[in-house]
Amino acid sequence: MDFKSLQPGAAYFYYPRPLCVVGVWDSKRERANFVPVAWAGPLASRPPLFGVSISPKTHSHQLLLQAGEFSLSFLPWQDVELVAKLGTVSGRDVDKVAAFALELAESEVITAPFLANAYVAAECKVSERHSFGDQTLFVGEILRVAARDAVFAPDGTLRVEAMAPVLYLGANRYLTVDAKTLVTLPVAED
Ligand SMILES: Cc1cc2nc3c(=O)[nH]c(=O)nc-3n(C[C@H](O)[C@H](O)[C@H](O)COP(=O)(O)O)c2cc1C
Repeated sequence: MDFKSLQPGAAYFYYPRPLCVVGVWDSKRERANFVPVAWAGPLASRPPLFGVSISPKTHSHQLLLQAGEFSLSFLPWQDVELVAKLGTVSGRDVDKVAAFALELAESEVITAPFLANAYVAAECKVSERHSFGDQTLFVGEILRVAARDAVFAPDGTLRVEAMAPVLYLGANRYLTVDAKTLVTLPVAED
């Protein structure tokens, strides 16, 4: 088998991955800002930690430093264009809530709202932050998860036949999952 070398940093080998939307208040709690984040993922289960890697160039970065908390919204496939558009403008220049007519849902534990159209959302408090190269990893302790009815199976997994998530492939490409490829494998017995 032949392999060729790709340029690290330019090859999107780690995609596809789920896209979440990070929500943060400004310091006066007058304007919430929402940004799509692909470089995000679970870090620990006890305590439940979720990391979002954010560029210091973004407005969200500045807001996160001030607010110390953020919401995570996972939107259904029908909203893929909206999710992408949220990443094309900055909250520094545009009130994204007004510009995209975003409907907000109130969080219970933190102050930052999440997107009302989310099939699942999480409320996080920043517990640590670290700089890695040109990004900052904000580590959020998940304080609450708010899920729509019947979207998750009793074993906690997403019912992909009921809800199609937004995945990002890099560049300007997006996709979702095909429930027809779902397999449930037997658990190996000891
Ligand atoms: C699909 C997609 C994924 C993105 N993922 C990230 C990410 O993981 N980290 C990041 O800092 N910016 C990411 N961005 C870029 C920001 O969303 C973009 O710079 C945005 O305009 C910043 O908005 P803000 O200035 O309001 O924070 C992504 C953009 C898109 C479209």
